[in-house]
Amino acid sequence: TNQEEKSQLEGISLLEKLFHHLLMNTEDGQEALEYMLNRGFTEAQLAQYKVGWALPGWETAAKLLEKKGFNLSLMEDAGILIKRDNGSYFDRFRNRVMFPIEDSKGRTVGFSGRIIHPDKNEPKYLNSPETPLFQKNTLLFNLHKARGAIRKQKYAVLFEGFADVIAASETVSNAIATMGTALTKQHIQQIKRLTDTVIICYDGDNAGTEAAYKAAKELASSGMTVKVSRLPADTDPDDYIQKFGPEKFKTDIIQHASSLMAYKMWYLRSGKNLQSEDGRLSYINAVLPEISSLRSAVEKELYLKQLSDDTGVSFSSLEEQLKIFMPVKAAEVKPEPLPPPKKQAIMKAH
Ligand code: GTP
Ligand code: MN
Ligand code: MN
Ligand code: MN
Ligand code: MN
Repeated sequence: TNQEEKSQLEGISLLEKLFHHLLMNTEDGQEALEYMLNRGFTEAQLAQYKVGWALPGWETAAKLLEKKGFNLSLMEDAGILIKRDNGSYFDRFRNRVMFPIEDSKGRTVGFSGRIIHPDKNEPKYLNSPETPLFQKNTLLFNLHKARGAIRKQKYAVLFEGFADVIAASETVSNAIATMGTALTKQHIQQIKRLTDTVIICYDGDNAGTEAAYKAAKELASSGMTVKVSRLPADTDPDDYIQKFGPEKFKTDIIQHASSLMAYKMWYLRSGKNLQSEDGRLSYINAVLPEISSLRSAVEKELYLKQLSDDTGVSFSSLEEQLKIFMPVKAAEVKPEPLPPPKKQAIMKAH
């Protein structure tokens, strides 16, 4: 019910304040605060995003929520407490840097918590479980804060991790991120209400490159204009910003994003050895169908030239080869109309 949802949002909001206070103002939060500042996050960013710290103890949140009169079973449904077999409750989030996650209305509906000491037995990030309020297939991190900037700048920047969004926030205010899931139709619909242009800036590793390619295809097939940023392999936006700063990130990475076709060619080229005949042929065979699906003749010529430069095969041979990849137009595959019944008579008339 509405009353229950309201109470869940209040419980989550109480924890957000508790965690943020623990990080910023207490000795217990000092190591975590140093960890975040060492990573290059500023105090202003930590305040703006209400980043926090969950203590290592088992019942810090459970005791506070109980003391404040919250129904703990409702808090379990909200994903912040877990019920023991004996009926008592303990904290889902312990010993983690806490990132509040807002929905599109700006209400905090859950958390993602990061460990600060790598541990093989623990996930790096622990998210709130799926609840009616916290649905990863719909949630876009920072959408509420970025909405105005996306409209004004007429594009959105899509990151892989919410840490990247926070790290970039000094120079990139139109940034959003999925919560570690693939981009869904619901995500795309929400972006489409604000803009028709997206710059994808995922991690430079293989996983990020593959995911960027998939997301780009989804966005393009929903009729959106897509550009894709390229980062050095094994660098992600927040690493880059730590090394080179947010201004250089904006000018050299975001504003230098490639068109989807240039990105596709870079992607299809990577991992192929263009010194070998096999490598060149498989690159050509992968790229030509993509070029043939382009609508503009200018673009076709542009990318055929690029392909010719990449492979050393002449432009005219590639152009010849492109013809067999030409999609057959619907009109050309329609069955021939039946001959008119008076065919003989008509022909005689001539
Ligand atoms: P940092 O190491 O803190 O810089 O994180 P990152 O932002 O570089 O995250 P990464 O590239 O490893 O992953 C991208 C996104 O995937 C994160 O923002 C999370 O949403 C999600 N993710 C990463 N690791 C985990 C995990 O262990 N569990 C879950 N549930 N999600 C994860
Ligand atoms: Mn990654
Ligand atoms: Mn990353
Ligand atoms: Mn990172
Ligand atoms: Mn980093």
